[in-house]
Amino acid sequence: MGSILNTGIQVGRLALRNRLVRSATYEGAADAAGIPHDGFRDMYEQLARSGVGMMITGFTAVSEQGRAMQPRQAALHNDAGLSGFRKMTDAVHRHGGHIIAQLAHTGRQTRSALTGSRPVSCTYRPSPYFRERPRMLRHDELPEIVQEFGSAAFRAREAGFDGVQLHAAHGYLLHQFLQPEVNRMVDSRNGNSVRVPDTSLLEDIIDRIRSLCGDDFPIMVKISGETDSRRPFYPDLFDRLITVLDSKSVAAIEISYGTMDQPLNIIRGSMNPTLVLKYNPLFRTRSRLRRTFWKLLIDHYFRPRQQPFTPMYNLPYAARAKSLTDIPIITVGGARTKREMERAITDGHADLVGVSRPFLREPDFATRLFNSDNDHVSPCTNCNHCVFMCDAGEPTRCYQRTPDQHFPSEGQLS
Ligand SMILES: Cc1cc2nc3c(=O)[nH]c(=O)nc-3n(C[C@H](O)[C@H](O)[C@H](O)COP(=O)(O)O)c2cc1C
Repeated sequence: MGSILNTGIQVGRLALRNRLVRSATYEGAADAAGIPHDGFRDMYEQLARSGVGMMITGFTAVSEQGRAMQPRQAALHNDAGLSGFRKMTDAVHRHGGHIIAQLAHTGRQTRSALTGSRPVSCTYRPSPYFRERPRMLRHDELPEIVQEFGSAAFRAREAGFDGVQLHAAHGYLLHQFLQPEVNRMVDSRNGNSVRVPDTSLLEDIIDRIRSLCGDDFPIMVKISGETDSRRPFYPDLFDRLITVLDSKSVAAIEISYGTMDQPLNIIRGSMNPTLVLKYNPLFRTRSRLRRTFWKLLIDHYFRPRQQPFTPMYNLPYAARAKSLTDIPIITVGGARTKREMERAITDGHADLVGVSRPFLREPDFATRLFNSDNDHVSPCTNCNHCVFMCDAGEPTRCYQRTPDQHFPSEGQLS
């Protein structure tokens, strides 16, 4: 019997061949200016060839100021990378896939050492993880940020992307505005209230992209169902957010979890302090005393707040969103077996399933899923070596795989 996962679905104007999504995964395959290398194209070509319905790029910078702390992040804030992106989108389309650019501004979740300017946010309070005091944005600066997202989306369309995904999850700038306990700028529309997520920036960006790219250019949004803050977001604020996204008729909503205040709760699984202390610029140090301090902090602050990895750990949020809107809902987080992915769809809890780490472990994960009559279980162990190495300036990959299983261009990047 055919798998429900392998049935087509309409997402905005896109007719997807199946319901399997490669969720955004930072590639580490661009140069310091954000220009994608051939390794970027090879990765997406291989995923498209293996049958993934829709792929979403790793977070792509919309401005210098909004760059991530990872040095190899791709960028769409100018035209420099367009021919590289175009090669990639052409390759994806040759294999029948759809490719979406994830657009992000990091806000207070970055480092001035990387962006060259002080991080900005809707608060003056630093992110507990990044620890750098942001400059509070003025209201008259917001139109520029709206324009940056609009221009990046326009470039994405020019480069052949099938749509964009606004990164309003994981504590980045758009998510900072949505969290009343973070946002200290008075929202001109709603007033500042703990009961109302400030969606005005997100809405203005959606409108701007539509005016630049056309009403039918697909705009998706990634949100966090809940965060680790003491003040709950779910269900009341979550419901309000879904209602706003419904009223804006976005093409799809992807539902993740958390912020970088507790980064491991976004992905769940193992923590490896040795890799963190070796590669992460926020914790890297030569001082033995400091290393001991960071280890204690990791053990006594981060570890006790770590949520366990459970299968499909964001599905309850997706199910709630499904009950509130007809917009296609993507659940992401902890999908490891064909059976559980199928069940999420047949139970009506999600329309599509997003997957990240299993595609690093098995780039042909889609082929394996679709070609097996039985359950296929990802061999990914959630060791998270791939995540800790994002800070090392290397192309993102699985460290459990043997060299011959790597993407063709891995290791060739300078
Ligand atoms: C190495 C790595 C890089 C990631 N980069 C991004 C990113 O750029 N943007 C994003 O929204 N999520 C990113 N994520 C989170 C994934 O999209 C996904 O939400 C999370 O890994 C849970 O899915 P999984 O259990 O299938 O891995 C990343 C995850 C990993 C493992």
